[in-house]
Amino acid sequence: MFVELDGDAPLVVQITRSLRAAIVSGTLRPGAALPATRTLAAELGVSRNTVVTAYEQLCAEQLAVAEVGRGTFVAAAVTPSSPQRTEGPAPAPAPLHEVSRYAARLRALPAPVLRGPQPQLRYDMRYGEPLVDPLLMSSWRRALGQAAMNCRENYPPCIGEAALRRAIAEYILRRRGVLCDADDVVIVSGTHQAICLLARILLDEGDRVAVENPGYEASVQALQAGGARLVDVPFDAHGLEVSALPRTGVRMILVTPSHQFPTGAVMSLERRRALLEHADATGSWVIEDDYDGEFRYDGTPLPALRALEAGERRVSYVGTFSKVLFPGLRLGYVVCPRALRDDLVAAKRLDDRGCSSVDQLALAQLMESGAFDRHLRRAAVELRRRRASLLDGLRRHAGGHVVVLDSCAGMHVVGWLPAWPADRVRSLVHLAAERGLGLHSIAPHYRRATPAQGLLFGYATLSVKQLGAATALLGACLRDASRSRAIAPPLAVIDDEDAMA
Ligand SMILES: Cc1ncc(COP(=O)(O)O)c(C=O)c1O
Repeated sequence: MFVELDGDAPLVVQITRSLRAAIVSGTLRPGAALPATRTLAAELGVSRNTVVTAYEQLCAEQLAVAEVGRGTFVAAAVTPSSPQRTEGPAPAPAPLHEVSRYAARLRALPAPVLRGPQPQLRYDMRYGEPLVDPLLMSSWRRALGQAAMNCRENYPPCIGEAALRRAIAEYILRRRGVLCDADDVVIVSGTHQAICLLARILLDEGDRVAVENPGYEASVQALQAGGARLVDVPFDAHGLEVSALPRTGVRMILVTPSHQFPTGAVMSLERRRALLEHADATGSWVIEDDYDGEFRYDGTPLPALRALEAGERRVSYVGTFSKVLFPGLRLGYVVCPRALRDDLVAAKRLDDRGCSSVDQLALAQLMESGAFDRHLRRAAVELRRRRASLLDGLRRHAGGHVVVLDSCAGMHVVGWLPAWPADRVRSLVHLAAERGLGLHSIAPHYRRATPAQGLLFGYATLSVKQLGAATALLGACLRDASRSRAIAPPLAVIDDEDAMA
């Protein structure tokens, strides 16, 4: 129990004052037991008599009652003068001049696009969530139990647990062609932290960063909040148009080459090489976000950008377990150029003093035991079936409206709606939601209003059968929305183009 001794009066007065404040403020609730006098005396390093006297004083003030043989309790009749939580509207945010420029920039960011599960929907074609695999979850729980028994009690190493770094180095060499030592792998709590830390060590306020547009708004917002100025770079079916990158003044380039988010474009080998040459020639840092490069459905995946770089000088490779396992885990990794590694680890140290040892050791165990690979194989088979069901359903039920430029990777596809203006897409999303179908427009992933309209179809959270039913329902919604001229009110969260402008 926390009793504050401020040294400003005799000990008994200090103890009484501290406990009185806790009772009156409601921190100690009516009926709560005060610590045994012997325990509190030992904790504070004072004589037991001093504590007894303080308790007697509180009883005299009718703030506490002593019960023979049981101890001393906060009096039931005490009404805390200022309750800890008050009902009513949330207080207004502190005025801008009282908060940092960082907080001011945070407030200016648009609301997050992704929403959690919406139970009122029969079929939610949301993207960004991985396949739920009960076998994986039971292996994970076992691994977690073992790790909890064996884990260190001290702080974890800020760079990450050696066992996990070894397992990741082996995994990314095998699956993504990235050759590195375990010592090159820095464990972070997901892509998000990776981008924030890399931005912290590589950028100053006002530095320019080239980003894909449309892109992954969480990473872009992390950069904006840090004070970066964004330079939008176009891309086509072969990925980022490297020739459109400015030759000067760009400090960092953030890309998703294996499966561009959200369009799904896969960057061609030629473009990857051109990007590496550009980075070398201009001295820009490249951040490769390989968030779901694991799952591909048309043969061997292209090697990661980092794997193609001779000398490993400019590319920081960022991987995450959010897609291959589950995002609640909050674990990812960075393989950065050697010259940056110590700065990155120092930034990690100051940020959170390292990721949880228990989680890291459990994950290392999952990877070493083969359970992780078995999960990847099962997930790849199941995702392939679901994707086939989605594509088949889209062809059969939505073929006249939806054009799919399939990227053969990841866990979502984009269905473009070339003949649909933005307000009609909003009506469609609204109508579908009324009928229990969750549709997600691509528009919020653009930073300004775009003529390109489309929907993101995630297929990891729906079964083959559900995807069949969902696409049939989509077909009916498309038919009805294209006939009706009624324009539904815009959906504030996912379709607000103003927020993106
Ligand atoms: C492009 C992209 N990168 C990374 C992530 C995952 O981020 P994190 O590792 O912080 O969960 C996502 C999640 O949807 C994503 O779309």
